[in-house]
Amino acid sequence: MTNLAIFASGGGSNAKKIIEYFEKREDVSVALIVSNKKNAGVLNHAKAFDIPSLVLEREDFYQNKSVLKTLEKARIDLIVLAGFLWLIPPYLIETYPERILNIHPALLPKYGGKGMYGMNVHKAVKKAGETVSGPTIHLVNEKYDDGKHLLQVKVPIDKNDTPQEIAAKVLKAEHYYYPRVIDDYVQKIGTKAGTS
Ligand code: GRF
Repeated sequence: MTNLAIFASGGGSNAKKIIEYFEKREDVSVALIVSNKKNAGVLNHAKAFDIPSLVLEREDFYQNKSVLKTLEKARIDLIVLAGFLWLIPPYLIETYPERILNIHPALLPKYGGKGMYGMNVHKAVKKAGETVSGPTIHLVNEKYDDGKHLLQVKVPIDKNDTPQEIAAKVLKAEHYYYPRVIDDYVQKIGTKAGTS
């Protein structure tokens, strides 16, 4: 069994799609939901699907590393970031090397980095007059939006699209591709125990 932990700060529409995608699978399970906000929408999905959840305090995450114990206890093999806004600390990357994925709602390296999240991204894409945008799914390293790309999906943009409309188009592609890329990646890397 490969166990996934999803980290999310917001509504968690991607998290929900990932949970639904793997719901009936016997080889892959969403075993933990982690959020840094106690009223994040993603926690409602955790409840609805009966998945254990953890709300992080900044100190737990950056100083005393107590999140590691929870991840180990749940035998997490892969961490999936889905709208998680805190930078991943080095100790977590060292513990889960090439086992942390993220999705960014633009074609990196454009429109990435600190401060480039949510509507900021789509407003910048609109302002630049791009005719194409789309999600990038990538491995996570110590910098925002910087790791190796696993997939980029090009979504055409109409010149009259508002940033909200661009966001909706990109999100639709995220919902379709993110679970499938996770699935392929999990098949490729196997469980964490299997590698050590
Ligand atoms: C998505 O656009 C994702 O690309 C970005 O954060 C957003 C999360 O949306 N990293 P949701 O909470 O999954 O709806």
